[in-house]
Amino acid sequence: MNYTNILVTVAEGVATITVNRPKALNALNRQTLEELLACSREIAVDQGVRVVVVTGAGEKAFIAGADISAMQSMDALAAREFGRLGQSVMDALEDLPQPVIAAINGFALGGGCELAMACDIRLASDTARFGQPEVKLGVVPGFGGTQRLPRLIGRGAANELLFSGEMINAQEALRLGLVNRVVPQGELLAACQELAGKIAAQGPLAVRLCKEAVNRGLEMGLTEACAHEAELFALCFASPEQKEGMAAFLEKRPAKF
Ligand code: CAA
Repeated sequence: MNYTNILVTVAEGVATITVNRPKALNALNRQTLEELLACSREIAVDQGVRVVVVTGAGEKAFIAGADISAMQSMDALAAREFGRLGQSVMDALEDLPQPVIAAINGFALGGGCELAMACDIRLASDTARFGQPEVKLGVVPGFGGTQRLPRLIGRGAANELLFSGEMINAQEALRLGLVNRVVPQGELLAACQELAGKIAAQGPLAVRLCKEAVNRGLEMGLTEACAHEAELFALCFASPEQKEGMAAFLEKRPAKF
């Protein structure tokens, strides 16, 4: 499919999605959200894609939020529809069977921070800035920020960011557990591709089931979640991957997945 506001490339099992509106700091307007949704649906059924990397075009921004000029004149019903569209994009990324790595190369504000939080792993450049500045605009975060932020960094730290609207730098985001790692700006994409390559070399079904176990399990109680994990563990033994992975170990050779 051809897109206008996003770029999509696939190489060696890694799909890279770049939000490409650098003049608006990659802000998410309706079209961009619709393209992200369509692209997520395509990737979800593409067996050739083992890992996804999401980033922003240009040096300055990952995504500076939902598009304020598009939202300014919305009435409540249009805002509800826009919010639901944004949430469906976040859900689609979170629910992709493949792991998703956010390569946060600059401002990740509002909807941009929300999109990063819907990814499975976040790596940030040392120039990245994070925040949920919606209260400065007189609104509540609308793409899941009030829910994913406290789940990720805890209620107190999340409340401080949500209520103040203040931005934090990459080191502070690292301290709060909002990102996994901070790397120099020029090394960010290579670091994400290296990590994606390591993941892509593992058993793809096992990786997908790990993601499912974590994401579904976090919505359950521990007993139920461990029972779910046992079912997924068992499912692996119905796949050629488990045969190859264990045979390779015992034959002292690398596994071929
Ligand atoms: N929506 C639309 N346009 C945006 C934008 C956004 N979220 N963020 C930046 N832009 C545009 C600017 O309007 C500007 O456009 P022009 O050149 O046409 O004037 C261009 O991008 C460059 O931005 P600045 O000149 O402002 O760049 P700066 O370096 O001075 O500041 C910034 C950078 C601090 C990120 C600043 O642009 C900013 O504060 N942006 C808004 C951030 C924000 O509030 N995000 C939350 C949006 S609400 C939301 O996301 C709701 C939700 O949860 C769904």
